[in-house]
Amino acid sequence: MTPRDMASTHAAAFAQSRPWTVQEFSDLLSNRFTHHVGNADSFALFQVIAQEAELLTIATHPTSQRQGLARQRMSDWHSVARDLGATRAILDVASDNLPAIALYEHCGYRPCGLRKGYYLLENNKKTDAVVMECSLT
Ligand SMILES: CC(C)(COP(=O)(O)OP(=O)(O)OC[C@H]1O[C@@H](n2cnc3c(N)ncnc32)[C@H](O)[C@@H]1OP(=O)(O)O)[C@@H](O)C(=O)NCCC(=O)NCCS
Repeated sequence: MTPRDMASTHAAAFAQSRPWTVQEFSDLLSNRFTHHVGNADSFALFQVIAQEAELLTIATHPTSQRQGLARQRMSDWHSVARDLGATRAILDVASDNLPAIALYEHCGYRPCGLRKGYYLLENNKKTDAVVMECSLT
């Protein structure tokens, strides 16, 4: 999967917020701690540093949503992270992103923190990020 594929799926899925550019995906993938699973229908991008794994983004193309793909991607990236030695997974999600929060709860994540005004929206308003964690052991 190329940075261009990722940017295309990401832009389609995140229609309400600023999509990440091809260059941003390319830069992230050039970092040796960054990995990905999936394909143009649904992918997850994550980092593993020592025993901690962090989900950077996950997106399912709107034409492929509600078919269990993101749940599968979560399982896939957890498996790779575990193989790389991670024992804990974390992520952050906008507090109003109810589909994603439902997905993460479904996958065993629980809230462990709140970042006030973390995300800047296109209308210059800010929204909170909920930090969630899950054991990989
Ligand atoms: C969040 C997202 C990745 C889910 O992808 P998906 O492939 O449709 O998810 P799945 O089909 O695997 O759904 C798994 C579970 O997540 C929850 N879920 C997913 N979409 C949901 C929705 N629109 N509303 C409520 N719950 C939802 C449900 O619990 C679902 O299980 P169920 O179908 O048995 O009820 C997708 O909606 C997306 O790409 N959104 C835009 C990008 C985004 O917000 N990414 C997360 C940023 S932190």
